[in-house]
Amino acid sequence: MLKNIILMGPPGAGKGTQAKKLVTGFNLIHISTGDMFRDAIKAGTELGKLAQSYIERGDLVPDEVTIGIVKERLAQDDCAKGFLLDGFPRTIPQAEALSELSKEIKRPIDVVINIDCDKDELIRRISGRRVCKSCGAPYHVETMRPKVEGVCDLCGGELMQRKDDNKDALEVRLSHYVHDTKPLLDYYANLGLLKTYDGAMGSEKLFDELTKLIKGE
Ligand code: AP5
Repeated sequence: MLKNIILMGPPGAGKGTQAKKLVTGFNLIHISTGDMFRDAIKAGTELGKLAQSYIERGDLVPDEVTIGIVKERLAQDDCAKGFLLDGFPRTIPQAEALSELSKEIKRPIDVVINIDCDKDELIRRISGRRVCKSCGAPYHVETMRPKVEGVCDLCGGELMQRKDDNKDALEVRLSHYVHDTKPLLDYYANLGLLKTYDGAMGSEKLFDELTKLIKGE
């Protein structure tokens, strides 16, 4: 079984949706830098204050801050059972720092999953996305509706729209994806680690494909 996994893809490709199901199914530690920043903003910590303006504009939080929080989390004992990195790395310096760290702590990356998706579909998904205020589970107003309108199926929390899910911030996020993050696909392809999947397929079908990959079937 593959146990140390990176999940990549443009904003709205379905990383969070797949990550939440995969970590439950395979008992992996979910490390989502986006969730870590949003939790810090909610808690009003120094990290949250620093990250907030970057996130709301759609900009990337500076590398040294992001690398610092991932290093700290990845070195914790529970990550020995396997981890899924969701939204990290997003820049070449982040990928290089991760490569050094994974050698240092002897937790090598087994696979990099890239979920690909075209721009029109990303815009449709992001503009209709709603997330649970309490647990962060993602929904969509047309394609992934909760059983009860406005209420999370998993924890009963209230659904809301993310502050960075607006037209202006999305353009900035997509541009960072193209300029800063897409070059990582070649970086990981050259290391023989990259597996790309079509994010346009249904969420259940994609989950089945990723499950097979992780089980080594
Ligand atoms: P982050 O939270 O990582 O956001 P993102 O990468 O923009 O990705 P999203 O969460 O928007 O989308 P997703 O791919 O998870 O899609 P989802 O599953 O929700 O980062 C937020 C911000 O934090 C960044 O902009 C940056 O400022 C900062 N940050 C984070 N990491 C950083 C880093 N490493 N360095 C610097 N800064 C960093 O799905 C989207 C919608 O589509 C949902 O409505 C869902 O229901 C629907 N959907 C999902 N799958 C399907 C499907 N197969 N078919 C139909 N609909 C689907």
